[in-house]
Formats: sequence, C-alpha cells, structure tokens
Amino acid sequence: MKSIAVVCGGDSGEYEISVKSGNVVAKHLNPTRYKAYLLFISGREWYYQDGDGNRFQVDKNDFSISVGNEKIIFDAVFNAIHGTPGEDGKFLGYLDMMKIPYTSCSMATSAITFHKDYCKRIVKTHGVKVAESILLSKNHLPAMEEIIKTTGLPAFVKPNNGGSSVGVSKVKTLDELLPAIEKAMHEDTEVLVEAFIGGREIGCGVLESKGRMIVFPITEIVSKKEFFDYEAKYTEGMSDEITPAVVDEETETYIKATGAYLYQRIGCKGFVRFDFILTPKDLFFLEVNTVPGISPASIIPKQAAFMGISLEQLFDMTLENII
Ligand SMILES: Nc1ncnc2c1ncn2[C@@H]1O[C@H](COP(=O)(O)OP(=O)(O)O)[C@@H](O)[C@H]1O
Ligand SMILES: [Mg+2]
Repeated sequence: MKSIAVVCGGDSGEYEISVKSGNVVAKHLNPTRYKAYLLFISGREWYYQDGDGNRFQVDKNDFSISVGNEKIIFDAVFNAIHGTPGEDGKFLGYLDMMKIPYTSCSMATSAITFHKDYCKRIVKTHGVKVAESILLSKNHLPAMEEIIKTTGLPAFVKPNNGGSSVGVSKVKTLDELLPAIEKAMHEDTEVLVEAFIGGREIGCGVLESKGRMIVFPITEIVSKKEFFDYEAKYTEGMSDEITPAVVDEETETYIKATGAYLYQRIGCKGFVRFDFILTPKDLFFLEVNTVPGISPASIIPKQAAFMGISLEQLFDMTLENII
C-alpha cells in the first residue's frame, strides 16, 4: 500500500476550486493500492486534515506527518493545487529537493507554462500560431496607442501569471485599455495585452503514462458570456462544453496531433489541457493548464469518461506513471 499526499489549497483565487479538486482525487484513488491523505497548503500553513477534522502539521524538513505514533513518509504527491504554488513550479522545486515524486509537470515546465508570455514564445518556436501580444510591467508601460498598434482592437488584457480568467478583460475601445490594464495589475505585476482571436475555443486533454500517450476527445467551449470568464467557468448553465467537439475529421486530427506534439516539445507530465482557438484558417495556441480542473464536471474528466475511462482509472494511470 502506497501513501499518497493529495495536496490542495494554494495561495491564489483558485483556493476553493483546488480544495474541491483535492477532495475528488482523495475520494477516487484506488483503495486497494493507495492510502490517500488530503493535505492543505496555504502560505506557511501546511497540514493534513483527517475525516474528523483533526489537523496534523506537516514537518517541512522531510514532508512527513505524524499521526498518533505513526510517522508517514509519502511515496508520492498528487498535485491538485491550481495556480501558485502548485502550478507555477514553486512547490515542485521543494518536492524535488525532498526527493518525492509528483504527478504534474516538472518545476521548469510548470514555471515556464505558467508564465503566459514565455510559454507562447516557446510554442511559437515549435511552429504553432499564437496571438500577437505585448508584455507590460510597471517599468515597461508604453503609450496606449502604441500597445494597440501591436494588438489591434478588440484586445485581451490578462495577468501574465494567473488563471480562472481572474482579472481578464476584453477591450473594444482605446479608452477601456488603461482601466483593464490596471485591473489585471491587481492580480500580477506583469500584464499581457493580446490580439483578439475570433474563433471556436477548443480544449485538448493529453496524458502520458508509462510511455503511452493518450489524447482525449476534444471539447468545444461555448460561453454564454462575451468570453469564457470566471462566471462562465464556474456557474452551471453559463457555458456549454461539447465533448467530442463537432469538427471535421481532418481538423480533429490536426488539433489532437498539435496537442500531442506540444506535450512532448514542452516536456509535460501527467494530464494537462491545451486550450486553442480554431479560426476558419488556423489553430492558435491560447494556453496550457498543467493542473487542470478535476471534478467530475471538469473538462478532462468528461473527456476521459467519453472514452470509458473512470476517475479511478485516470488517477491510477497518473500515479502509475511516477511510482
Ligand atoms: N487572445 C484571445 N482571443 C480571444 N479570446 C481570448 C484571448 N485570450 C483569452 N481569451 C478568452 O479569455 C479566456 C481566459 O483567458 P486565458 O488566457 O485562458 O486565461 P486563464 O488562465 O485565466 O484561463 C479564454 O478562455 C478565452 O475565452
Ligand atoms: Mg484559460
């Protein structure tokens, strides 16, 4: 029996969603193989909480916990922290130092993919299209007219390091640009202004386990809001997620091949979701989520279910890959 620390929480606006994801993972780990411990990571507070609500502090010297007389050293970490420090590499660097394997991408891949601007630059070198953009910070804030020369209007303004569409705006006029940049600056010190890509939003889940790659059926996301904002993401009925997406066979193959290709090029691990925008002519890479949502209502679990893969099987494959 292996002891698995399912880590959740984190230090971003995605805390609550991560706690839900963590609970789903802990509940669906194969009980004949794994003993799951749900660990909460929030700032310097790291603790295991048992079913009765008792808390046990994590010993950060070796990432162990002591329950009664028993000291538990984990065989692996199942990473369910969306956003920092789980998805941007910080916590993963610590786990590397503790020599504890984890389900998600390496520290370096996580750090790069979480930085939207760096990630797009790398994806572009591999021949996949990305939206024109300009990265702003306090020390680099050109005139609004200059920014629009690069991106045109409408434009998307977003925190460079973020998620769940928090602080993201669609800007249609020059006057709206500065307030949108200020809003995004509340979330991050760097802000990305991007050309608007009009098309269909497609999510492509990929998982490699023991050298075998699975590309899940693709999903079209149709938001009832202007774009796939926070409300559309987390309010029942505010978006339609169509799995498998209705596209012709050639396009489907192209999207899946691009997802598989980028997974290998970027050096991903575990299950990740690539988000693309499909225009009549091209496929644009939007972003990659290295710790995507894992509730039964989330995109990858639904894609897996369509293939007949249960949550238990999905999590089994994810863990088998590392221990
Ligand atoms: N350049 C763009 N063109 C069109 N839509 C965009 C663009 N950038 C973002 N969006 C919309 O905003 C949403 C959130 O943007 P995204 O870059 O995925 O940030 P997050 O990491 O917060 O999910 C996307 O799902 C999409 O609906
Ligand atoms: Mg997104």
